[in-house]
Amino acid sequence: MRMTVIGTGYLGATHAACMAELGHDVLGVDVDEAKIDSLQAGEVPFFEPGLPEVLTRNLEAGRLGFTTSYEQAAAFAHVHFLGVGTPQQRGSYAADMTYVRAVIENLVPLLEGEHVIFGKSTVPVGTAEEMQALADSLARPGTSVEIAWNPEFLREGYAVKDTISPDRIVLGVREGSTRAEGIAREVYATPLEQGTPFRVMDLATSELVKVSANAFLATKISFINAISEICEIAGGDVTALADAIGLDERIGRKFLGAGLGFGGGCLPKDIRAFMARAGELGADQALTFLREVDAINMRRRDRMVQLTKQVCDGNLLGHRVAVLGAAFKPNSDDVRDSPALSVAGSLSLAGADVSVYDPQAMDNAKKVFPTLGYADSVEEALRGADVVVLATEWRQFKELDPVAVGELVDTKIIIDGRNVLDPVTWRDAGWTIHALGRSLDKASA
Ligand code: UGA
Repeated sequence: MRMTVIGTGYLGATHAACMAELGHDVLGVDVDEAKIDSLQAGEVPFFEPGLPEVLTRNLEAGRLGFTTSYEQAAAFAHVHFLGVGTPQQRGSYAADMTYVRAVIENLVPLLEGEHVIFGKSTVPVGTAEEMQALADSLARPGTSVEIAWNPEFLREGYAVKDTISPDRIVLGVREGSTRAEGIAREVYATPLEQGTPFRVMDLATSELVKVSANAFLATKISFINAISEICEIAGGDVTALADAIGLDERIGRKFLGAGLGFGGGCLPKDIRAFMARAGELGADQALTFLREVDAINMRRRDRMVQLTKQVCDGNLLGHRVAVLGAAFKPNSDDVRDSPALSVAGSLSLAGADVSVYDPQAMDNAKKVFPTLGYADSVEEALRGADVVVLATEWRQFKELDPVAVGELVDTKIIIDGRNVLDPVTWRDAGWTIHALGRSLDKASA
């Protein structure tokens, strides 16, 4: 099947390459020339394991191309995927719908015949219906444009796998739709043959499925982080607690990783946009708990800074702090709303001499926070440190040898912001180890 994918950011570039991998003829479209040039040259402008190989393979096979031309896109296919960003608006919790609207405004007047646009971006409920009305007002006489919604659930770091073999495929269609479901079944024939659950529903529900999933994940993380606050005071161990409650199948251990909390380009802005939309709908009370989810999450960053200050005898000035990690999570170079970078920034602003190292996110971190100290290697970051802060759980950091690392630092104090280190091993190597959600006294005993 021929299709375009409009918007070639994280979601769009991955979707375009993976649809070509499934055997389709795909044209990726973006207004950003630099991005298009880079993708056309086989270079993925962000770090995503496995994606460069899929991109190159399909460019070479002639199934994948990129353009900045909407005219080309309109002529290329009758099926279009919309994957542009919906960032948080400046000065508001709501999502900025400028880019979604712009796609409809640019594309629809150029279309001829029968077209289906599948929205993939995360949007406030009601958007698809609104975009359908906009498309109807812009379509040429005799041209029909159907808007359907096909939310994306991919995780950064697993984007290829999540796109090619997703947990589920969700499709929202308007009442009386005859075409979208059949086309979607053809597009996703391979995963459907492999048994991927396929749920067809109305447009509003499909939009809500996506934000509800992210709101649930954020809530689960903040739940365990709230318990973590109690553990710290009461002398409990949040990791042992999470293991124990996670054994209950109804609860499950996934997303009960206590620590610095969630960040990235999705969870934080999605829960805020969800609250904003609920307010617009007159249902603000329904989601006030998400305000608390957000607050718990942000408090973890403050707690990390406070804890670091505490181990530096109450004063960060002049203390050398090695911050391991800048990406919002491992296997990503994304620093959007990154807890790690936020902590590094706060420590630096409070007077610490910060040395940040991340295996992939250095360039992005330097762009966002150019004034921080950056090291070229983990060893360089650790050399002479008064305290080490583990902020992103990259495998390289989880596997650090406490004996070898002990030779590099000035003082053997480490704060595990992601609860991934074994306190016993580190203590045996002469370290004082602190961790979020574990009693300080016990951890340093
Ligand atoms: C998230 C969702 O997991 C995807 O399903 C969704 O498609 C995506 O947002 C999106 O809306 O585009 P992603 O942002 O890639 O994916 O990251 P996650 O793996 O969900 O992690 C989010 C944050 O939660 C990270 O900062 C991570 O460190 C943190 N986290 C995760 C925890 O603090 N504890 C955990 O137990 C799990």
